[in-house]
Amino acid sequence: VAPIRTQVAIVGAGPAGLVLAHLLHLRGIESVVLEARSRGYLEQRVRAGVLEAPTVQLLCDAGVGERLQRESLRHRGISLRFDRTDHHLDFVALTGRSITVYGQQEVVKDLIAARLAAGLPLHFEVADVRLRGIETDEPEVAFTDGDGVHRILAAPVIAGCDGFHGVCRPQIPAGRLTVFERDYPFAWLGILAKAAPAQEEVTYAHSDRGFALASMRTAEMARLYLQVPPDEPLEDWPDGRIWDELNARLAVEGSAPLNVGPILERGVTTMRSFVVEPMRHGQLFLAGDAAHIVPPTGAKGMNLAVADVAVLAEAVERFFATGDSALLDGYSVRCLRRVWRAEHFSWWMTSMLHLAPGADAFERRLQLSQLRYVTSSEAAATSLAENYVGLPYGS
Ligand code: FAD
Ligand code: DHB
Repeated sequence: VAPIRTQVAIVGAGPAGLVLAHLLHLRGIESVVLEARSRGYLEQRVRAGVLEAPTVQLLCDAGVGERLQRESLRHRGISLRFDRTDHHLDFVALTGRSITVYGQQEVVKDLIAARLAAGLPLHFEVADVRLRGIETDEPEVAFTDGDGVHRILAAPVIAGCDGFHGVCRPQIPAGRLTVFERDYPFAWLGILAKAAPAQEEVTYAHSDRGFALASMRTAEMARLYLQVPPDEPLEDWPDGRIWDELNARLAVEGSAPLNVGPILERGVTTMRSFVVEPMRHGQLFLAGDAAHIVPPTGAKGMNLAVADVAVLAEAVERFFATGDSALLDGYSVRCLRRVWRAEHFSWWMTSMLHLAPGADAFERRLQLSQLRYVTSSEAAATSLAENYVGLPYGS
């Protein structure tokens, strides 16, 4: 079979790969997207839910925000619960910007629909993806398509958007990347329940029993999380135990219990901080979870993926329009500034809110002091708020 030629080969159709493909299309640059999973799988995979203001702006400016604007929930802020009291942070008052609740798989659905409606190449259920010649000007991606046919994709630029467990990053020779990593001694048990959310806004709770988070997807659908030990078996958590524990951790003086409903989806997510530097090797550019992971507290993962590809799309456009690779050469440094800010924020939110096994009274007092500070000092609250709503691109 003759090689397929394109300008940018994109491995992975998560938020990073799909947003990149769309931004390139708007700039008149051809790409081919290769995805290991099926369309159905991507569209039902429950993950992140909070979009930063810059992410919403980018999606709307790119013409894929129509359903988002109609169906998403716009929130003024979040709540932090501790000492059995609810403390509301009003991000609109503090920063002039709000946050948006809209499931990651809804963003993915909108982007897949836009790509297929435009008749642009997106191959699902590919296998055996291998990169060749990434240190040359003529790199290739070999893969087996959904019909079992072996194919070659030739493209001057390759975007590794294939997530943390993808194949692109491991093909960079050992010693060419510096890896920064932290594991956390806990995980999140997450559920999606057909039950009206009891809180109006996303609520983070710090309690003696551990951390809990009450979020939502729609007016009828709650998304809830509990801190659990790493590798916690789901069998140990029958529905009744999940609801009881959520109620115990989220309770404040005078609050009503959560609305209970059928649990439609459940899973345990490990918590990790991870960054590779640089986010590039030769003609391979890593974006999103392929290059960095944050623990989920603060909801930065998907937003960082979108921020990376906004930078990459501009750099790729310059390269193909003029042959000038200066922006491509600056891609990694520019992205890593934002990445490290989000790494710090996510680590800080995680450390402030969770109960580390074996934490002593000194650490507990520091956590409470910090929680009281961010909910009572306008300066401290504004710092949390501007990070949460998303710092402007380029800052
Ligand atoms: P991904 O979304 O992982 O997309 C990568 C894509 O590449 C996938 O579709 C994958 O199938 C594909 N792929 C992998 N290998 C190959 C291959 N060899 N060939 C072709 N395709 C390949 N963030 C939050 O902010 N809040 C949350 O609550 C939250 N929950 C999460 C729960 C889970 C279980 C996980 C895994 C992540 C969660 N995240 C959360 C993080 C957030 O979802 C990610 O940061 C975001 O998905 C990153 O987008 P991405 O496009 O870089 O990677
Ligand atoms: C959600 C996830 C997060 O990690 C977070 O910090 C807030 C909300 C969510 O899935 O809705």
